Amino acid sequence: MGDRTARLIFDDREIVLPIVEGVEGNHGFDISRLRADTGYVTLDYGFANTAGTSSAVSFVDGTAGELRYRGYPIEQLAAKSTFLEVAYLLFHGEMPTPEQLKTYTASITHHTLLNEEMKRLFDAFPKSAHPMAILASATNAMATFYPDFHNPRDPYAVEQSALRLVAKLPTVAALAYKKSIGQPYIYPRNDLDYAANFLHMMFALPVEEYQVDPVVARALDVLLILHADHEQNCSTSTVRLAGSSQANLFTSVAAGMSALWGPLHGGANQEVVETLERIHADGGNTAKWVAKAKDPNDPYRLPGFGHRVYRNYDPRAKILKSFAYEVIERMGANDPLLDIALKLEETALADDYFVSRRLYPNVDFYSGLMFQALGFPVHMFTVLFAIGRLPGWVAQWKEMSEDEENKIGRPRQIYTGHPKRDLP
Ligand code: SDX
Repeated sequence: MGDRTARLIFDDREIVLPIVEGVEGNHGFDISRLRADTGYVTLDYGFANTAGTSSAVSFVDGTAGELRYRGYPIEQLAAKSTFLEVAYLLFHGEMPTPEQLKTYTASITHHTLLNEEMKRLFDAFPKSAHPMAILASATNAMATFYPDFHNPRDPYAVEQSALRLVAKLPTVAALAYKKSIGQPYIYPRNDLDYAANFLHMMFALPVEEYQVDPVVARALDVLLILHADHEQNCSTSTVRLAGSSQANLFTSVAAGMSALWGPLHGGANQEVVETLERIHADGGNTAKWVAKAKDPNDPYRLPGFGHRVYRNYDPRAKILKSFAYEVIERMGANDPLLDIALKLEETALADDYFVSRRLYPNVDFYSGLMFQALGFPVHMFTVLFAIGRLPGWVAQWKEMSEDEENKIGRPRQIYTGHPKRDLP
């Protein structure tokens, strides 16, 4: 911490607050002594102005529209690395050497199978179950199969539980999908890489050969890279808060999945495609939907637009937009929804309501269209977001568990209820 300070003057009092300087981006007033010294707390709905931690995992420049994982720009990682390289980078802090990547990949490959007893869990769900409910439940259930890996203070246990989560989530996701369409479960294959194996488990059938298209596999790998981490977003903050009580990694991640499911967060990619389908059915009338999103009396918000941090184009949306046409064309998916999305973006970005509030497309605006073009059904989109975000959740939880400054999360409140009163 540097020696810069701030002064807080109120009533006839004045206190000095140390200033904590970030390497880039936000600097902070350290208020860790505020309540002890003044009896006051701060109030900040949604933590829009509050840092709950320091972190070195990722960095977002909301003004410039930049995202970096461990210092590397997302554009370079999307162009030159694989999802497993990024997962290693986020967890260990450095890109893997070829030898380290080989060992890491082999570890992931050899943990993709689920314990056969896990399959009975899936039978407990109705066919119509949303796969996010299944994913979070199965992730929590993993804690029962690995009771020796719960201790957040044991580096081996943390590494082993992280490996199992990265390795098994695609298997869980594919099983949930196969159940929803009444098809047999496809086992993982050790001869396929991460994205190809996931696609094979999702779309292969035991009755015929299924060839994974390498272009589709690479597109999925890039999509997962783009979702891998994003500072202290809602789901990551949930993983950290759950983990701050020293709850195990499996159950902390399951809590994060539940937060991600919300339509204001990871559920937005499903909302975007459903909105585009409604606009398509409505004759492509984007102006009507933009007007609805602007209406102060209508709670509807344009899904895939706006962001708590970006006051510029989300760099992930920019990357997705740039190769959406290539993938959709390759898949032969003559997708009117992409044209509608581009028209919707153009309509909104020409409208002062969006421009004045600096509301731009975020990662969810194009990701759903890409997932759909790769053959995934709409109800699987947030599951794909979760698989992509998993390495970030794990890296952030590990960073928190290793941070000597860390303590159990327990926010204060401003009480607005009844004063003390007696029963009649
Ligand atoms: C993700 O945090 C992360 O990093 C998240 C994420 C990640 O990688 O983890 O980037 C992933 O969750 C992306 C966001 C996906 N959600 C959506 O696309 C849902 C639609 N977007 C909005 O609900 C909203 O923009 C949020 C939730 C994303 C951000 O909300 P904020 O920061 O609380 O913004 P706000 O509600 O204070 O909005 C400011 C103004 C308000 O209008 P006024 O009160 O000034 O009149 O902008 C308006 C809002 O009504 N507004 C929108 C809008 N988003 C904000 N109006 C219409 N449509 C929208 N999409």
